[in-house]
Amino acid sequence: MIAVGSDHGGLELKQAICNLLQQRGLGYADLGPADESSVDYPDFGVKVAKAVASGDCETGILICGTGIGMSIAANKVDGIRAALVHDPFTAQMAKEHNNANVLVLGGRVLSIELGCELVEVWLDSTFESGRHQKRLDKIHQIEADRK
Ligand code: RB5
Repeated sequence: MIAVGSDHGGLELKQAICNLLQQRGLGYADLGPADESSVDYPDFGVKVAKAVASGDCETGILICGTGIGMSIAANKVDGIRAALVHDPFTAQMAKEHNNANVLVLGGRVLSIELGCELVEVWLDSTFESGRHQKRLDKIHQIEADRK
């Protein structure tokens, strides 16, 4: 299950991404918002991040105007590796090298077509593990050291 959320700046791209996930036969949970009213991105960023961190959803997708606020908010939640990507290369690397469990996009930065393409690239890429796992372990250690 993929958790999907946005703010008003990412609503249109969120709808297109939900349609894409449906077309691909992938299960998703649209955690809102449901309309174009102005909302605060941390509220939806943390909803998606917690759904992934808790294991309720395997991965998440977040969209705000630039993607910046959502990535800052989601990365506050332990266990979340949220990656803001802008092009097919960064979408691919986000999975292959960083094993990003939350993909973040800017709804005011990307066309609908490119945003959907980046989701497909991230979905279709595979974590390479090996030396990259060692680096992720170091990130997990930062979280452990805070406790
Ligand atoms: C909302 O106007 C905008 O600030 C938000 O969508 C996002 O771009 C924040 O990083």
